[in-house]
Amino acid sequence: MSLPFATLLLLIFSTSSSYFISLAHSKIPRLGISPNMLKNAPDAPTQKLNHSDLKMFYFNQNLDHFTFTPKSYMTFQQRYAIDSKHWAGANAPILAFLGEESSLDSDLSAIGFLRDNGPRFKALLVYIEHRYYGKTMPFGSAEETLKNASTLGYLNAAQALADYAAILLHVKEKYATKHSPIIVIGGSYGGMLAAWFRLKYPHIALGALASSAPLLYFEDTLPKFGYYYIVTKVIKGTSERCYNLIRKSWKEIDRVAAKPNGLLILSKQFKTCAPLNGSFDIKDFLSTIYAEAVQYNRGPSYWVTNVCKAIDNNPPNRKNGLLDRIFAGVVALLGNQSCYDTNMFAHPTNNNKAWRWQARKFHTCSEIVMPVGYDKQDTMFPTTPFNMTSYIEGCKANYGVTPRPHWITTYFGIQDVKVVLRKFGSNIIFSNGLSDPYSVGGFTLSRHCHEEERRSGVAGDATRRGN
Ligand SMILES: *[C@@H]1O[C@H](CO)[C@@H](O)[C@H](O)[C@H]1NC(C)=O
Ligand SMILES: *[C@@H]1O[C@H](CO)[C@@H](O)[C@H](O)[C@H]1NC(C)=O
Ligand SMILES: *[C@@H]1O[C@H](CO)[C@@H](O)[C@H](O)[C@H]1NC(C)=O
Ligand SMILES: *[C@@H]1O[C@H](CO)[C@@H](O)[C@H](O)[C@H]1NC(C)=O
Ligand SMILES: *[C@@H]1O[C@H](CO)[C@@H](O)[C@H](O)[C@H]1NC(C)=O
Repeated sequence: MSLPFATLLLLIFSTSSSYFISLAHSKIPRLGISPNMLKNAPDAPTQKLNHSDLKMFYFNQNLDHFTFTPKSYMTFQQRYAIDSKHWAGANAPILAFLGEESSLDSDLSAIGFLRDNGPRFKALLVYIEHRYYGKTMPFGSAEETLKNASTLGYLNAAQALADYAAILLHVKEKYATKHSPIIVIGGSYGGMLAAWFRLKYPHIALGALASSAPLLYFEDTLPKFGYYYIVTKVIKGTSERCYNLIRKSWKEIDRVAAKPNGLLILSKQFKTCAPLNGSFDIKDFLSTIYAEAVQYNRGPSYWVTNVCKAIDNNPPNRKNGLLDRIFAGVVALLGNQSCYDTNMFAHPTNNNKAWRWQARKFHTCSEIVMPVGYDKQDTMFPTTPFNMTSYIEGCKANYGVTPRPHWITTYFGIQDVKVVLRKFGSNIIFSNGLSDPYSVGGFTLSRHCHEEERRSGVAGDATRRGN
């Protein structure tokens, strides 16, 4: 039972580049797994989902794991899925996918990693839906569950981890496999959950794969360069000309917007479905699609390459004003549509509503307070730094609650992550793609540092402790 972990470790290093997950909130970058907003999302070369391999279950879950008032004994139905097709039976490993802020249905089709690696380890595959997402609505309907702070108050990372602990122990019992090692796996916010789960529940998870987990993107551990620094860097690295044109376009948009009928001109230029109410509408839309293009960029048809080709090129049948070029970029990403919905990233889907509570959009609000702003350092965006004061005001106005920007670092102790991992943590793999804008908040080691840690035994721990 120990060998599989070491092998898994190697396997993960050799395949992690094809394991694509990243983050996104709706307006400021989403945390999420599927790039479903942009057109033609090609599948990575991974095993297709075969629904007949999956069994769906509902677990009777406690509303509140941490208090003992009568209300906390309320229970709800939490959805999870099991694929036992390749499972070797008792004591073979369990690979557990810890859901993040989306429905289990979209995760099941997006996550190829377990299907790809499960057969080799003859593993039992478990996928768990996060409370308040998909069909896992603690107060019955989504409408009731996502209504206000009284119901949303039970949505947080600590409760989610406790849910996962309860379900994983239940699964072990149900499959009579007490000694199966469990490896927890997650991406983006789910990657943070996987790492935190291993630290908080070492008696349940033997190891964790935290993919693209920006667990250092908090007030106390702010990265030197922000999210949009990487967005800019990737676009600049693809085409310097494209970068310059985008950088200049914001002023041009403002210039046109200031003309008489300027907003109407811009609405026509960008074929917007609703008339623009300010230049902010279109600027916000454009910066979001650039961020999505970079964050979900992957082959065979790379979005960043496509958008920059469209912006750079001089097709004969097109006016080649700066904004014509920028619009051509929009078409390259979203396809030829009769009109473009500039609010497409902001529609209040159930997932968005829950995530706004838990994390952040402009006015959103409890514990996952990641101060992502348009900072000065060499970005192609107009400078708009994150403003904690207005952020907190927005949360109060929306939900009547004040976010706790320091809670995550207090509870999970991330400030001195290297020291903590050296002294206490082990068997956690942090995988990051350096072109993923959220990698700035990921846990990465420079090569030098890695060598040093290996000599001092940290990097080697994973293998040793697993054996
Ligand atoms: C899906 O799985 C079932 C049962 O394992 C199998 O019979 C069927 O051929 C599979 N379908 C595809 C398309 O692979
Ligand atoms: C939430 O809504 C319920 C019923 O509509 C109400 O009783 C409760 O006071 C509300 N809670 C908050 C914090 O607004
Ligand atoms: C402008 O405001 C109107 C009225 O509030 C709204 O219906 C419309 O969607 C807005 N336009 C955009 C592009 O957001
Ligand atoms: C886009 O669609 C319009 C009609 O909806 C069509 O006239 C035009 O040729 C299309 N452009 C491209 C590049 O396909
Ligand atoms: C941040 O927001 C607050 C409240 O909206 C405002 O008073 C303050 O000037 C802002 N700070 C900066 C640096 O923009």
